[in-house]
Amino acid sequence: MNKNIFITRQIPEVGINMLRKAGFNVDVSPDQDPPNQEWIISELKNKQYDGVISLLTDAIDSKVFDAVPSVKVYVNYATGFDNIDLAEAKKRGIAVANSPSDLASEAVAEHTIALMLALAARIVEADESVRRGKYKGWAPMNFIGMDILGKTLGLVGAGRIGQRVAHYSKGLGLDVLYTDVKRNEQIEKECGAKYCASVEELLPQCDVVSLHTPLLDSTRHLINETRLHLMKPTAFLINTSRGPVVDEKALENALREKVIAGAGLDVFEFEPNISPGLIELQNVILTPHIASASDEARDEMATIAAQGIIDFFEGKEMKNRVA
Ligand code: GLV
Repeated sequence: MNKNIFITRQIPEVGINMLRKAGFNVDVSPDQDPPNQEWIISELKNKQYDGVISLLTDAIDSKVFDAVPSVKVYVNYATGFDNIDLAEAKKRGIAVANSPSDLASEAVAEHTIALMLALAARIVEADESVRRGKYKGWAPMNFIGMDILGKTLGLVGAGRIGQRVAHYSKGLGLDVLYTDVKRNEQIEKECGAKYCASVEELLPQCDVVSLHTPLLDSTRHLINETRLHLMKPTAFLINTSRGPVVDEKALENALREKVIAGAGLDVFEFEPNISPGLIELQNVILTPHIASASDEARDEMATIAAQGIIDFFEGKEMKNRVA
């Protein structure tokens, strides 16, 4: 296949090798930092590229489409695709696909549970205190946390990832509530999950709220000041979906004023920037958008992305086409 493919950053070799084996000429950005749009455009202009594997940090919109009309397909190496202007792509007949990997959903669900347990048991605060030499011996009131058993988890979004979180949570002895645009009968049956018709109905009932929605106009700032005030003062908020689903300033205020007890965040509203106010707080755990970063998941994502490119140029239906 005499086609030129550009990958905007290093991804696992397994995907790159698949493409090379299928006869594609593949160039991979040597840079490990997220490139800006000007750089992407200038790299793509170096050659007549036919296809691109992009990352969730790449803004792919009309500027890119105008500058490099030779590119007929973009496959996002990610489950999310809010970085790509789908409406513009559709208008121009450019194909777009994502790489929704089962193992990535699994990894994100596991990371969500890790954040939940770390918040409940105050793992990060306690670790920091030991490292600062503050441990003077066992004390009855040191780092009192919260038991998870018998508590209530609320899922905002019960798709591929939310569903897995429901299963783990049920195994840990939590009751599960969820809200979504459509009902998930499977988690109702398998996890005893109870459906709430609205976020407003769900929030006041939960000890832990976990967000698993895509970023859409309808989910931007879904968690805002008003809704944070609906949560219990003892509750934790976990976000492993997309940063702008939460109004980060409102969350920072809510954490500082103890409107809620804590938060576990893997994503941020203005990535890679994180509100300095959040960093100062003890009752928040911050991880750098790594929820899907397991070896197994990243290999599967690379394979799915490469297969998307291969299918497109072989004239087959792309399984994960979104535009
Ligand atoms: C990660 O955030 C992804 O969308 O794959």
